[in-house]
Amino acid sequence: MSDDLSSRFRALWDEIAPVGRDAASGGYLRYALTGTELELRAWFRAQAQRRDLPVTGDGNGNLFAHWGDPEGSDAVLTGSHFDSVPHGGAYDGPLGIVSAFLAVDELRAAGVTPTRPLVLAAFVEEEGARFGVPCLGSRLLTGALDADRAAGLRDAAGVSFAEALGDRPAGARPELLGRFGAFVELHVEQGRALVDADAPVGVASAIWPHGRWRFDVVGEGNHAGTTRMADRRDPMLTYAFTVLAANKEARLRGAHATVGRVAVEPNATNAIPSKVTGWLDARAADPETLTGLVDAVRGKLAERARRDGTEVTVTEESVTPLVAFDGGLAKRLATLLGAPVLPTGAGHDAGVLAAHLPTAMLFVRNPTGVSHSPFEAATDDDCAAGVRALARVLEELTCR
Ligand code: GLV
Ligand code: MN
Ligand code: MN
Repeated sequence: MSDDLSSRFRALWDEIAPVGRDAASGGYLRYALTGTELELRAWFRAQAQRRDLPVTGDGNGNLFAHWGDPEGSDAVLTGSHFDSVPHGGAYDGPLGIVSAFLAVDELRAAGVTPTRPLVLAAFVEEEGARFGVPCLGSRLLTGALDADRAAGLRDAAGVSFAEALGDRPAGARPELLGRFGAFVELHVEQGRALVDADAPVGVASAIWPHGRWRFDVVGEGNHAGTTRMADRRDPMLTYAFTVLAANKEARLRGAHATVGRVAVEPNATNAIPSKVTGWLDARAADPETLTGLVDAVRGKLAERARRDGTEVTVTEESVTPLVAFDGGLAKRLATLLGAPVLPTGAGHDAGVLAAHLPTAMLFVRNPTGVSHSPFEAATDDDCAAGVRALARVLEELTCR
C-alpha cells in the first residue's frame, strides 16, 4: 500500500533519475568525477544545504554532510555512493544517499534530536568502473590504499585520479575516521534472498572475500588468411580457454568467477590479435576457497599459454578480505526491525570501513534480483520501508 513516504521517496528520486541515464539501454553511466557524477555531487550539496547540513570533504573525493558538530566525536555515519558500473542500475549506491536524506527528514518530523552527530556520506569511485580499484574513496580514507598509488591510477582515456580530483588525494585521515563511532550503509539487495524471505528489508551478516585480477596475454599479430593454423601464437585462444577454466573451477568450488571485461589489440576481424587482456572477478565464501580458485585459474592460464606459445602476466588489481559485520550490531538491528540477516557476494564501502568501526548494512528488496544491469529494481513502497528502517536504526544509534 503506497503512503506519503513512498510519494516523498518518488519525488526526491525523480530529481536524480534522469542524470546519466542512457536512453538506449535504460542503464546509467555515472563514472566517478565525470559530468554526471559531479552533477549528483552538486545535488548532494544542495540537499544538504536545504536541510542546513554543512558539507565537508576529506581530500580524497568523499563528501560528508553534518547534522551536529562536524568536529564532534562518536558520530554515526550513513550513506553510499553515486557512481555506477557501465549501464548499471539506478539503485546501486544512490538509494543509500537518497534514503539518508529522507531518514533525516523522518527524524526531524518526529522531533528526534540526536545526542550523537549524524553524518551523511557520498563515497567516491565505489565501483572502480573508472580507475579500476573498487571502494577507492573509502580505501583512501582508511589508509587501505596508498595515496600515491591512487593518484597514479588512470582511466581508459589516460586521465589520472589526481587529475580528475584536481589534486593529489589526501590519503589516510585517521583523525577524521576516529570521529566516526558507527557506519550504516543502506543498499539495494543484489540478489533474491529478500524476495525468497518475503521481507522488504534485511540486515547484512558478511561480505564474501573477493578481488580483481588482470591477465595480459601477448601473442603474435598476423594475417587471418595467410597464417597457417600451426604457425599461430594466438592470445585469444589462451584468453578463451582461461574464461572457460575460470567458470569450471568456480563451479567445482561453489565460488563465483566472472570475466566481464576484455580488451583486444588491434581488435580487427581479419587479424590474429597481438594482445588480449581480460579481467577476472573472483569471489568465494571464505579466503581459502578464493585463493584456491585464483591459483587454479592462474595454473590453467600458464598451462594454456605454453601450448599457445603466448606470454602471460597476471596483475592483482584489488583484493577485499572476508568482512564479517559486527555480529552484535547486526543482531540488534535485525531484532529492532524484525528483519532477516543475510550474507552477500557484493562489495561495499561498508566492507572497507568495517575494519575500523562498528558497521552494519541494510538491504532493500530487489524484485528482479538483478544488479549491475538496467534491470535492477525496487518498488517505491520497499524504498519507503528502507527509509523507515534506516530512520529507526539512526534514532536507535544516535539517541542511545
Ligand atoms: C560492487 O558493486 C561489487 O561488488 O563489485
Ligand atoms: Mn555495485
Ligand atoms: Mn553499491
